[in-house]
Amino acid sequence: MAVLPKDFVWGVSTSAYQIEGAAAEDGRGPSIWDTRCRTAGGVVNGDTGDVACDHYHRYAEDVALLRDIGVGAYRFSISWPRVLPRGRGAVNEAGLDFYDRLIDRLLEAGIEPWACLYHWDLPQALQDLGGWANRDSAGWYADYAVLCARRFGDRVTRWATFNEFSVFTLFGYALGWGAPSVSDRGEHLKVIHHTNLAHGAGVDVLRALVPGASIGAVHSFQPCRPADPAPENVEAAALFDELWNLCFPDAQILGRYPPRIARAIEPYVQAGDMARICRPVDWFGMNHYAPLFAQAEPGAVWGCGFGAPPKGMPRTDIGWPLQPSAFHEALMHAAARYRLPIYVTENGYGTKAPESPDAQGIVMDRERLDYLQACIGEMARAVRDGADVRGYFVWSLLDNFEWGGGYGTRFGIVHVDFETQARTPKESAKWYSALIGGALGGQTAATPGTGRFAGRS
Ligand code: FCB
Repeated sequence: MAVLPKDFVWGVSTSAYQIEGAAAEDGRGPSIWDTRCRTAGGVVNGDTGDVACDHYHRYAEDVALLRDIGVGAYRFSISWPRVLPRGRGAVNEAGLDFYDRLIDRLLEAGIEPWACLYHWDLPQALQDLGGWANRDSAGWYADYAVLCARRFGDRVTRWATFNEFSVFTLFGYALGWGAPSVSDRGEHLKVIHHTNLAHGAGVDVLRALVPGASIGAVHSFQPCRPADPAPENVEAAALFDELWNLCFPDAQILGRYPPRIARAIEPYVQAGDMARICRPVDWFGMNHYAPLFAQAEPGAVWGCGFGAPPKGMPRTDIGWPLQPSAFHEALMHAAARYRLPIYVTENGYGTKAPESPDAQGIVMDRERLDYLQACIGEMARAVRDGADVRGYFVWSLLDNFEWGGGYGTRFGIVHVDFETQARTPKESAKWYSALIGGALGGQTAATPGTGRFAGRS
C-alpha cells in the first residue's frame, strides 16, 4: 500500500432510506420510495424501508461499529423528507436533531462525516408537483441545501450533492424499476437536465455557506460494453455509456453533454444552463461494482438495455459480473477524462445468501472479502498508473434495504438479523479493519494479482 497516499481515506458508505427506518416517526414526511414500496410489484416480497436497520434509534451502536472497524470516514445521506417533510417550507427540527446527534457522535469517535444530500428519497410532496421533471426542482433542492449547509456546515466539510444521478434517473424514469416508476423518454431527459441544474445550484450553496467545503458528486461509473459485436449492440453500448456514465459528469465537469444525449436534450436546455451546471468541484466520487453489458432492445424507452455478460465470466448470485480489472479501467478512464482527485465512494459485493452467523458467531463471507481485496488491488494498480485516487469507501456498513431487491440482497460487511436487529461483523469487516490498521502489512492486501478473483478477467 506504499503506493497509496499517506492520508488516504478509508471509509464505508450507507444511505438514509436503506438503513434509518423510523419512516413515520418524529415528523418525517413520506418519500417516493415509501410510495414505491407500497406499489404492487415495486419491491421484492413487498419489503419496505419502514424499519430497515433501525439506524435512527441505533445510530450510536452503529458509530461504535465504525469505530471498532477503524474507518476514518463515514459517508451517509441526509433524508430530505426527514428534515423538510413536505420538501420545502416547514422545517422538522426533530429530523435535523437526528443528524446533529449522528454527526456529533462521529466526530467524538474521530470519524470524518461525509454527507450526501440526495440518495434517491425525494419527498413525495415534491413528486406530487412533478418531482425532478419540474424545472423548479433545482430551486427546491437549492433551498434544502441551504438548510443543511447552515445547520451542519460548522462540523461537516465533505459534501456530495447527489448519489448516482444516472441510476435513479434511468431506473426511475426510463426502465420503470425504481421510484417514481415512470418510463418515458421525454420525462427522463427533463430529469437528467434538472438534476444537473440542481447539482450546480447545490455546489454554489455549499461553496458560499460552508467554510473550507470539499465538494463533489457521486457517479456510478462502470465500463459499458456491447453484449456481442453486432453493430446494433455496439451502438446500444455507446448510447448506454452516455446515459449511465457520461451525461452527468460530462455536463458538470466538462460543461457539455455527450453527443447522443446533447441532440436529444436540446429542447430542455435554456440559455446559460450549461454554465449553471458546470461549477467547480473538488473531487469526483466514483461508485464502481462491475462492467455493464448492453444490447439493442427494440421497444424499450431508449431502444437499448442490459445484455448478458460473456459466457464464462464469473458472476455473483445476483448476476453481477466479477471482473476486478474493470475497476482499474474505470478509474483510469475517469482520471483521464475529468482530471480531478477521485474518491471511490462505493464498491462492494451483494449476495442472496443469508450469510447467517454460525454457532461461533462467525459470518464467513469469503467471496465478498476476496472481491474487495481484488478491487483494492486494482485500485492500487490504478494509482501506480497515475490515477489520483485519495479514498475508498466500502458499500456497505450494514446489510440493508437494497431498493427493488428488498432485504433479500445483502451488501453489508456487518450482518444484520432483521428480526432482532443484531449486528455481527462478517469476516470481510475484520479483514477490512486489519487492512486499515495495517495489520495485513498493507502491501500484501492491496497488491494486484492477489485474491481469489485475480487473474480471472
Ligand atoms: C448503488 C447504490 C446503493 C446500493 C448499491 C448496491 O447503485 O448507490 O444505494 O444500492 O448500489
